[in-house]
Amino acid sequence: MATAPPPILFCLLLFLVASPSHPRVTAAAGPAPLSSSPFDAALAKLQAQIGYAFRAPYLLRRAMTHASYSIENGRPLAVLGLAASQSAAALAALAADNDVAAEAVSRRAREAASEATCAAAGTHAGIPAIVRVAHKTDASSDTVVCGALRALIGAVAVDANSTDAAVEVFWKLHVLTAAAAAIAAM
Ligand SMILES: *[C@@H]1O[C@H](CO)[C@@H](O)[C@H](O)[C@H]1NC(C)=O
Repeated sequence: MATAPPPILFCLLLFLVASPSHPRVTAAAGPAPLSSSPFDAALAKLQAQIGYAFRAPYLLRRAMTHASYSIENGRPLAVLGLAASQSAAALAALAADNDVAAEAVSRRAREAASEATCAAAGTHAGIPAIVRVAHKTDASSDTVVCGALRALIGAVAVDANSTDAAVEVFWKLHVLTAAAAAIAAM
């Protein structure tokens, strides 16, 4: 005999339908899956946002960990992330114009990878609310946000074993930020 499903099952079903593809960082209602912490949920959301799913999630955890929080932090990844960002910008300058002056290539690379640009992209990606820092460290300072964003780009390169994937994420982050800034200025 068919009966209406108990309300609890209905709620569970709604939860299952609503959660997997859109993990919510701040969701207060309902128990989170046992294996998931707010940090993990934020990392899942970040991956969806950048359009890259990590094969080795510990690389992403590391990228989103500041040196003030743990010795296992994103600094080594950020070195690679900075180089990949500069490389992406220099390539774009030369691809657009083979005869571009060296100074212009240099300026594009410097600007695209600058702390201000990188902190804006990191803030837009929600890094201040994700990155793990020590209590006295300001997670929204340009240095911390930019370091974490560069580490994120470096982590993608290591995870994919290719800077191509990192360059894609770099552009995606910067295009999203530029679009948001353009809308805000309208
Ligand atoms: C990473 O890429 C390099 C160069 O293509 C290749 O030689 C190496 O085997 C790759 N490493 C892994 C772990 O896939």
